[in-house]
Amino acid sequence: MKSKDIKLGVNIDHIAVLREARKVNDPDPIQAIGICQRAGAEQITIHLREDRRHINDTDAKFIIRHSPLPVNLECAVNDEIIDFVVANRPMRATIVPEKREEITTEGGLDVESGFEKLKSVIKRLHEAEVEVSLFIDPNPVSLLKAKELGVGWVEFHTGKYANIYAMLYSNLADTPHSVKELELDRATLKKMLNSEIENLNEICEHARGLHIKVAAGHGLNYQNVSAIAEIESIQELNIGQSIIARSVFTGLEKAITDMKEAIKRV
Ligand code: PXP
Repeated sequence: MKSKDIKLGVNIDHIAVLREARKVNDPDPIQAIGICQRAGAEQITIHLREDRRHINDTDAKFIIRHSPLPVNLECAVNDEIIDFVVANRPMRATIVPEKREEITTEGGLDVESGFEKLKSVIKRLHEAEVEVSLFIDPNPVSLLKAKELGVGWVEFHTGKYANIYAMLYSNLADTPHSVKELELDRATLKKMLNSEIENLNEICEHARGLHIKVAAGHGLNYQNVSAIAEIESIQELNIGQSIIARSVFTGLEKAITDMKEAIKRV
């Protein structure tokens, strides 16, 4: 028997990316929220980056205060940002690694070497009654450290899965591990894909066994999402770029209902 449907968190950062491309006031990410709700999204996800390259403090404050959907705020271990989170109290803070020069969040948190700092940040967030999630790579070392840190949620980084999928099925893939570079044949890539799905399956089940709630995200799109959505112990997916990209052509409401359809459990 399948568990109940998986929840969709729509990451609306890319609306603000478009606004910031011209430093004007549209498109406004705040306007997206009612549309997300109407289309059946269960959560709004935003990332307040240290360099404020898209979502800014004014957006985040307004969204946290007025969103009818729960807000999941992604943030780095950075005192100024954590002060902001504690003061504004979104439903959840997802702690992510952040490098200024990266285009997007490239990997999971290094929970081992950041352990002590994470511990004090998580304590502050819990005292402010903010749920905490750690964005980690799907491996047991990171998961067990997350357990030790006492978080209620983890979000597993699906970037490796998405990259292998793109190498296998898309000629648009332009990742550092492109097919050409690695000279991998299709059979090898298929094996790699299956083994990553298996790995995700196992680690999500492991997390569930530890009573940690499981989310997943990064690089998920309309083509690759169904295998991840089928993993029963995942409760929620956070998806941004592919939804906002499709919305340019279809409108945001349709882009979200299409994604809801794609992640429906059969
Ligand atoms: N989840 C987390 C923790 C992220 O950092 C990101 C990227 O901002 C996403 C999900 C969404 O990734 P994408 O835009 O590739 O769907």
